[in-house]
Amino acid sequence: MNIAVVGGGKRCKDLMDVIQRHTFQNIHPRIIAVADIDPTAPGLIAAMEKGLFITSSYDDFFDRDDVDLIVELTGSMDIYNDILAKKRKDVRAISTLTAELFWEVARVSTMQKKTKQELQEARALYHVALNDLIQEEVLVIDHRFRIIDTNDAFLEKFGLTRDQVIGQFCYTITHHLENPCSGKDHPCPLIQTLETEKPSQTTHIHLDRDGRKIYYSISTYPLIEQGDVVGAVEISRDITRDINVQKMMMQQEKLASVGRLSAGVAHEINNPLTTILTTAMLIQEDLEPDDPTYADLSIIANEALRCRKIVTNLLNFARQTQPDKKKHNLNDIIAACISLTQKQAAFKDVSVTHALSESLPRTRVDKGQIEQAMINLIINAIEATPAGGDIHVSTRLSDRQGYIQIVISDTGEGIPDERIARIFDPFFTTKENGTGLGLAITHGIIEQHGGTIEASSILRQGTTFTITLPVEEMVDHAP
Ligand SMILES: Nc1ncnc2c1ncn2[C@@H]1O[C@H](COP(=O)(O)OP(=O)(O)O)[C@@H](O)[C@H]1O
Ligand SMILES: [Mg+2]
Repeated sequence: MNIAVVGGGKRCKDLMDVIQRHTFQNIHPRIIAVADIDPTAPGLIAAMEKGLFITSSYDDFFDRDDVDLIVELTGSMDIYNDILAKKRKDVRAISTLTAELFWEVARVSTMQKKTKQELQEARALYHVALNDLIQEEVLVIDHRFRIIDTNDAFLEKFGLTRDQVIGQFCYTITHHLENPCSGKDHPCPLIQTLETEKPSQTTHIHLDRDGRKIYYSISTYPLIEQGDVVGAVEISRDITRDINVQKMMMQQEKLASVGRLSAGVAHEINNPLTTILTTAMLIQEDLEPDDPTYADLSIIANEALRCRKIVTNLLNFARQTQPDKKKHNLNDIIAACISLTQKQAAFKDVSVTHALSESLPRTRVDKGQIEQAMINLIINAIEATPAGGDIHVSTRLSDRQGYIQIVISDTGEGIPDERIARIFDPFFTTKENGTGLGLAITHGIIEQHGGTIEASSILRQGTTFTITLPVEEMVDHAP
């Protein structure tokens, strides 16, 4: 069988070597010609040294009548199609892709020279890595981003079968993209690994159905064969829980220290404030209301009152007592909060609607604290929403067994991405008269109930706060 090779690169040279070294049983392949536009291509030079036919244009192959098979090794689909169109009927052609398959077979057959034991060990290791023990999602990817192998964890996660995945591009399967991942939230660690020949790691951020962030840690390790990177093993792990626990701990730490500080400061400030307020009122008593100083004193008194309000909030925040939990119907608490905020809403010409799940179980909560949390959130929503907007409060069973959810969404201004991480921080406010304590307090309350609160927002479209609460208190099972 006489072979003509299009593309005189390293692949071509490898192919020549393999054919020379290997003893074939049924066929007798022989490379007789090589084409490459680059006169310095290693395969072309090797062919020249052996005295084979070389050319810069593969069109020359079509004139020869001693060619049985044309192998396309440049990897270009256009060239392969061109060959298919121009070749004689009795000449066969194979593409790089098919050629690669032979490579794989060749690789396996050289492997068979290993002892049976070595082979079994290698297979066992591969199996463990790909299936049995590893819960992470694993992909084996070649240097052109094609998936060569994967494991059950991956198939389960994507709800696909092995056949649907093998041979596809990794970015098509995992991201429905037409090109490799890129950008801030989707850097491609594979590109890095292929370039540097070293392991690489990155974190991808995805959104789930409810718009919550899911964090993936993705690591890639190079697969090196005879000194060349031929692909990579990619291992992905969902680290959302770890990240959330970390965030929560940081938040708690911050709240605790700010709480201690503000309790001290608030106490110190409260006394002088009272003195300012009473003194201003005492002087006012000696004056006629039309005295110009009278109005100034009113300003002093009002401002002092405003400070006192902030201080009271601060103390509330710092005090954050253990909740006194009893079984309540959450829907009743929420309905009461909505009617309490009805006036403010009407004043701004926004409506507050609700859809409360009938199947909600009674839940152990501190009624006063949950009311405070709900009112904070609803008032914030009202303040953020322009006239004609809508605030919607709903309750539902969570996907997570034993948990319920309260969702407060508005059609307001939204929160820019760079700001959303800070809204639960104490004293973070964007309002002229804000205290920045509402969300910090709310966060603390929900946490004390063993729950979580998350915000997601689209700028100029609205914001959604999702509270997840356990129905029952967690019980520690003592051994
Ligand atoms: N529903 C919302 N829509 C837009 N921004 C919000 C919303 N809720 C809270 N925020 C932002 O979070 C900040 C902190 O809120 P909060 O802790 O209640 O303090 P305050 O209401 O006193 O500013 C607000 O100043 C605002 O920028
Ligand atoms: Mg507020």
